[in-house]
Amino acid sequence: MNTKKIGFIGGGNMASSLINGLITSGHSASQIWVSDTNPDTLQSLAENLKVNITDNNDELVKNVDVVVLAVKPQVMRLVTENIQNSSDNKEQLFVSIAAGISQASLAEWLGSDVAIVRCMPNTPALVMTGATALHANSVVSNEQKDLAENILRAVGISLWVEKESELDAVTAVSGSGPAYYFLLMEAMEEAALQLGLSEKTARLLIQQTALGAAKIALESDDTPSELKRKVTSPGGTTEQALNTFNDGGFTSLVSKALHAARDRSIEMSKELGEK
Ligand SMILES: NC(=O)c1ccc[n+]([C@@H]2O[C@H](COP(=O)([O-])OP(=O)(O)OC[C@H]3O[C@@H](n4cnc5c(N)ncnc54)[C@H](OP(=O)(O)O)[C@@H]3O)[C@@H](O)[C@H]2O)c1
Repeated sequence: MNTKKIGFIGGGNMASSLINGLITSGHSASQIWVSDTNPDTLQSLAENLKVNITDNNDELVKNVDVVVLAVKPQVMRLVTENIQNSSDNKEQLFVSIAAGISQASLAEWLGSDVAIVRCMPNTPALVMTGATALHANSVVSNEQKDLAENILRAVGISLWVEKESELDAVTAVSGSGPAYYFLLMEAMEEAALQLGLSEKTARLLIQQTALGAAKIALESDDTPSELKRKVTSPGGTTEQALNTFNDGGFTSLVSKALHAARDRSIEMSKELGEK
């Protein structure tokens, strides 16, 4: 992968994290190109990460093997339609990280015979702990799949989904997921203050507990249900709290919330495809 030239259209938050991750994992900065409409963004990427920069998307596409589309969904149509005929490289791969832009829209804007991987990353990618699901169209080769996976793996874990429709569920689970944990942290913090802890103490305990729970879950083969049972003594404090969550309909509320997010993802894809 080190020999492949990777270009990013849009050099904002997500692209700079990916570039940082790629360089940290050994990819040469001289093999990375970025184009952006914002001269300050380009300048800072050139100074800090020593990558090649241009304000011309067309020029970037002509120069690279992989084009990572890292602009906001609202400008994706404009950007992709403008680069449709920029390159005659039949082996070129396009990787879109934009939320809600379907393979069908991308193929319509870039060309139906173009190799396209659509990804759904999440915000923790900004701190190299992202979770990304990827979907490839039928033009993408195995080598190109490896390439796309390696790019996203620079900022966390990445995995493939077979059906594109699964990306709407992924959006509801890991895409929006960080906010669910923040909501729980917020609610726990409020309750901890009511129980007499200071904000500083409560926040640190809650953050470290979230990290610890995630670490145990990641390192264990047990299901969440088994993990929960193992930390719950009959008649103890945890059981009291869990019973209270259950009485309040916690599980069905979570299900409702994720269904609502999934449905909104489907709706948004339709809206963005029509723009
Ligand atoms: N941030 C996340 O955690 C996250 C998570 C999942 C998915 N994503 C997806 O990642 C993509 C990028 O998000 P982001 O947060 O990195 O956005 P961002 O920080 O706004 O970066 C986008 C960059 O693209 C530039 N741009 C705008 N129009 C352009 C054009 N025509 N040609 C070239 N560059 C152009 C923008 O310049 P200006 O600032 O001057 O407009 C900006 O520097 C989005 O599609 C988003 O859905 C992000």
